[in-house]
Amino acid sequence: MNRRSLLLSGIASTWAATAAHAQTQPNNRGAVLVFGGTGKLGSEVVKLLVAAGDDVTVFTRQSSGRELLAGLKVEYAIGDMADDKSVAAAFDSKKFRAVIDASANREPGAERGPAGRAERRRGGPEGDSKGFYEATMAIMAAHAKRTGVNHFILHGSVLAGDNIELFPQFALIKGSGTLIDKGRAEKILIDSDVPYTIIRHGRVPSDPQPPATGHARLTLSQDVFGDLTRADLAILTLDCLDNPARINKIYHAWDDTFKIDRPLPTAPRGTPAPSKE
Ligand SMILES: NC(=O)c1ccc[n+]([C@@H]2O[C@H](COP(=O)([O-])OP(=O)(O)OC[C@H]3O[C@@H](n4cnc5c(N)ncnc54)[C@H](OP(=O)(O)O)[C@@H]3O)[C@@H](O)[C@H]2O)c1
Repeated sequence: MNRRSLLLSGIASTWAATAAHAQTQPNNRGAVLVFGGTGKLGSEVVKLLVAAGDDVTVFTRQSSGRELLAGLKVEYAIGDMADDKSVAAAFDSKKFRAVIDASANREPGAERGPAGRAERRRGGPEGDSKGFYEATMAIMAAHAKRTGVNHFILHGSVLAGDNIELFPQFALIKGSGTLIDKGRAEKILIDSDVPYTIIRHGRVPSDPQPPATGHARLTLSQDVFGDLTRADLAILTLDCLDNPARINKIYHAWDDTFKIDRPLPTAPRGTPAPSKE
């Protein structure tokens, strides 16, 4: 398929996801609270929610740039995901039927990449997010439970927690602080009793962000690792939202028509090379 066909297919899928979601979306069912909504993935999700007529609140730090949400009709709740008080206030600001976490551990006010987003991360898959995901999920899940949220969608990572056992090719990054942290966050959400969907993804592209291909898929097979675009992840997010068939499931997202041209993760710096025996 050429680039133009891919683009048109992506637009058609985006429209279909938005239209399908909008049809099942009476306005009085409660709003959607999005963490990480100012980011590259989160902003794609927010755009589709707004297009579907959803009432959207984006939780954001005071220092966050809002360029990717320019012109969109959303409300903002200001705070820090690591601060229980501000997260509690966000949950109490209105009735939320759903929460979507598309956050990634970034330094506040980090440098902006070419597409206007933070590029400097505290913990990539090979790094150490220093408990960010576990600590922030403990706060979000507690308030989601307290306020009766019906659906919590977490954007997680393939290889998180025990999942790395299914990928012997990535054994060199076993023990990565970020992947352990993300596994613990998943467990907190699963144990919280809040209906959840976890969407684990493999690699997403560096800037500039490509359009959706419309060919990304969700699978319950936990040994699938693939590349995909954030725009396609947003479409899959709306496919999950309010969808009883997707509740209390862990999915791996991938797109066999999309490939990122950069090497796969390797060992953290300082890790001894494996013996050749
Ligand atoms: N990049 C990859 O290759 C990759 C691979 C697998 C999975 N993922 C996952 O995909 C998801 C999104 O990644 P992305 O690269 O699209 O993210 P991104 O563009 O870096 O956005 C991160 C978002 O999280 C927010 N955030 C971070 N710390 C916060 C805090 N303490 N309080 C409030 N907001 C905070 C940021 O706000 P600010 O504007 O204030 O920074 C921003 O909105 C994450 O779950 C990530 O782990 C990424």
